[in-house]
Amino acid sequence: MKISFKLGLCIFVCILLMETVSMFYLHNKVIHSRINQELESLKARGNSHRDVLEITYSDSTLQHIGLMESHTDTDVVITNTTGNTLMSSEEVNGAMKKILAKKHPQVPRKGLIIQSRWKDERYIATVTPFKSDKENEGYVYMFKNTRDVEELIAQLNKHFIFATVLLLFFMLITIYFLSKALTRPLIAMKEATTKLSQGSFSVAVPVHSHDELGELAQSIQSLANELNYLKKERNEFLASISHELRTPLTYIKGYSDIARRKDLDAAERSRYLEIIHDESQRLNKLLDELFHMARMDIHTFTISKKTVQLSSFLESIHEKVLPAFSNKKIQLNLECKDHLYIEIDPSRFEQVILNLLDNALKYSNEYTITTIKVTRSLGRISISIIDQGVGIPSEDIPHIFDRFYRVEKSRARDTGGFGLGLSIVKQLVEVQGGAISVKSRLEQGTCFTIIFKEIKNEDSSSG
Ligand SMILES: Nc1ncnc2c1ncn2[C@@H]1O[C@H](COP(=O)(O)OP(=O)(O)OP(=O)(O)O)[C@@H](O)[C@H]1O
Ligand SMILES: [Mg+2]
Repeated sequence: MKISFKLGLCIFVCILLMETVSMFYLHNKVIHSRINQELESLKARGNSHRDVLEITYSDSTLQHIGLMESHTDTDVVITNTTGNTLMSSEEVNGAMKKILAKKHPQVPRKGLIIQSRWKDERYIATVTPFKSDKENEGYVYMFKNTRDVEELIAQLNKHFIFATVLLLFFMLITIYFLSKALTRPLIAMKEATTKLSQGSFSVAVPVHSHDELGELAQSIQSLANELNYLKKERNEFLASISHELRTPLTYIKGYSDIARRKDLDAAERSRYLEIIHDESQRLNKLLDELFHMARMDIHTFTISKKTVQLSSFLESIHEKVLPAFSNKKIQLNLECKDHLYIEIDPSRFEQVILNLLDNALKYSNEYTITTIKVTRSLGRISISIIDQGVGIPSEDIPHIFDRFYRVEKSRARDTGGFGLGLSIVKQLVEVQGGAISVKSRLEQGTCFTIIFKEIKNEDSSSG
């Protein structure tokens, strides 16, 4: 069942219930007051006959009253105190007699309603006592045929039915448009999510209201955008991987074809085998890094953080990489005060620093200086790796943390990079609760800065 139909049905049933109850109430009230009005006017008529009789009681007055009533839709019967009929405007029939026969011990001067049940009796009736002198006293009975009353009520019912139908009609129209208007955004969102589930992520959810529905639409829209972005990124990623895999494989295939030639001398063959070996190593390294990244993506790798004293931690790294730097005649300095603590996973963080140092080494020339510098301010600790290398063009800076992004493809091939190091660094830093940023000037150098919250823990074990 469609949601608009359900919603419409719900509203319809609710309003119908309310309408029925209030119509019923109103109908009863109107009829009740109408009947009361009839009875009161009947009584008032009886009272006015009484007044006339009390002023001038005579046969001709009686005749006169009878004559007057015979021309109206009411009837009058005047009796004496013993119940004998003195005059009647119509012939007294059985139903009238039944009413006349009723005894009323105390009839007030202003009259009394003696029959009000219009539904199952033939007449509604009132009685008024009169007394002009000792002998001439009795009762003025007033009758009104309930057929007239019923006709009146039927007329009233007709109006009620007409009003109800009209109301229902307008209600249906209103509900139709209302439920359409209310469900339109839902339907738009449903269509959008269906498209999403079918894998088409470039959807637009056209709901711009500022309510819960609008917020929901906003969420769906950002989900779609995110999925779209992920899809694009995945495609680019796969394209990069296949590209990266293809290059060494082409070399391997080409050189192995040559190396298989019979007429090749031993020196040449070993040169080609050397290239094949290098390329397979390169492939191996790439696969290692990809594997590493995949594990980080699925969040299967665990980080076990502990408080680490920075100076001794960095000293051990400094010691480890110093030979490589000396080899390339690059000076590597470490500036770090004692008693600075941060909370990290030591082996993961070592990977970060090694990666950054690897870049500094790769992208710096001889006789330059690379510095590992730790500073502390406002409860934060900054660890910077500053080199005097080739630098990064400013237009490349926003992208260097992307996977497979390299500033100069040819330069990177010479240095054997894939452009994965920094993307891994960024993920590793962020997963440990830190942040990384970069500043660089072409031909002047680059500075990577990692910021962590300082841990004030003097007697903590160092890493
Ligand atoms: N210290 C630096 N000085 C100059 N350029 C740098 C520096 N660090 C990174 N870059 C540039 O940023 C690019 C991305 O660096 P990243 O570490 O991600 O890749 P890579 O070093 O080329 O390869 P990989 O680290 O995967 O072996 C590099 O190709 C290089 O052009
Ligand atoms: Mg690198």
